[in-house]
Amino acid sequence: MDVSPDAVVGDPPTAAPPAVDVLRDVEPGDLDAYVRMRCDPAVMAELGGPQPRERVAAQLRRDLETVRDGSAWIKMIIPGGAAQVAGTVTLYSHAGISEIGWMVAPEFQGRGLAGRAVRAVLDLARADGRWGPIHAFPATTNAASNAICRSGGFAFVGAEQTAFGGRLFRTNHWVIDPSAQPDGSSAGRAGDDVVPA
Ligand SMILES: CC(C)(COP(=O)(O)OP(=O)(O)OC[C@H]1O[C@@H](n2cnc3c(N)ncnc32)[C@H](O)[C@@H]1OP(=O)(O)O)[C@@H](O)C(=O)NCCC(=O)NCCS
Repeated sequence: MDVSPDAVVGDPPTAAPPAVDVLRDVEPGDLDAYVRMRCDPAVMAELGGPQPRERVAAQLRRDLETVRDGSAWIKMIIPGGAAQVAGTVTLYSHAGISEIGWMVAPEFQGRGLAGRAVRAVLDLARADGRWGPIHAFPATTNAASNAICRSGGFAFVGAEQTAFGGRLFRTNHWVIDPSAQPDGSSAGRAGDDVVPA
């Protein structure tokens, strides 16, 4: 490399490693992140409405138990370079099917975080092999979630009514079989970089 004497001022530049998003299991210390998301009216608008703050600790305890007993994955999204939890992707079995859902706190939305995290969880599910076809039921009006399904490689099954949080929603039913996706892709895109913690 040709470096003229004028080109070096102060310390030589150090190459910072690229910041990658991290996914880790939910932990007992995630109460604050739960409250930020589950008590937020905008985040919960199409998920049955905001949860009362006093019920969130019990929800976290139940979630920790389901992760401990292996019946669910509840992955917390830590954006590259941040110290704070930005969102979650949840994969669980109920009524004989596997279902995936996601949420991202308002201040972290619109950066591609949910899409990258969902694709990473689908890759983990494919490697794990136990989940079979994975279903998602975003409200028909939930543009971002339907976009995640579409670009994540889910197939559209149809619109239907789904009960959630004691209310009925008009939802789109999407399904993906991770084992049928090409290796390491889950219809992934160049630039996706999410690592399990
Ligand atoms: C849905 C949600 C998780 C998206 O999080 P996000 O990190 O902002 O999403 P991303 O930035 O990864 O965007 C995902 C896709 O939605 C699109 N999108 C994002 N915001 C959008 C909006 N307001 N309108 C239309 N499309 C939008 C993006 O362009 C992207 O599309 P692509 O996959 O074709 O590139 C977030 O809005 C949220 O938490 N909503 C409330 C909870 C919820 O409804 N969960 C769904 C349960 S199934």
